[in-house]
Amino acid sequence: MIRVLFVCLGNICRSPMAEAIMRDLIEKEHLHDKILVDSAATSSWHIGEPPHSGTKDKLWEYSISTEGMQSRQLQKHDFEQYDYMIGMDENNIRNMYTMLGQSNSPKIFRLLDLTDHRKDVPDPYYTGDFQETYNLVLEGCQALLEKIKREKKL
Ligand code: 4NP
Repeated sequence: MIRVLFVCLGNICRSPMAEAIMRDLIEKEHLHDKILVDSAATSSWHIGEPPHSGTKDKLWEYSISTEGMQSRQLQKHDFEQYDYMIGMDENNIRNMYTMLGQSNSPKIFRLLDLTDHRKDVPDPYYTGDFQETYNLVLEGCQALLEKIKREKKL
């Protein structure tokens, strides 16, 4: 099984959005028995909470469910469990390295570095623009799935 973990600050806006979009893409390509997706927060602020209503409503527009999802915090042992660990912004990446006790790993990278944008995913918790975030996260997840298919020969 290939394991993918998306990480953001609160695990209620961007990384659950990425998790749900990625799972949807994986199901459409009939790869759900090969790739597992999860998400986590660098902070402890929203542990146990469901995705933000803005994320839930935006995904609902695209017929993607967030049923049963809840925020959890990144754990040091996650490093051994996952093949791809994707941060939404530069701060996430920095915090991931610290929390995971790593200094450099090819499996840790920023989502939009897989696209031509090469920038942080804007945080809709602050911008209020869940559509902009959805569009960018979708683009990033499509690029990520292509990378996984290429690297894992799926
Ligand atoms: P996220 O957004 O990292 O995309 O889940 C945020 C969620 C909550 C907070 C900040 C960002 N907060 O300050 O509580």
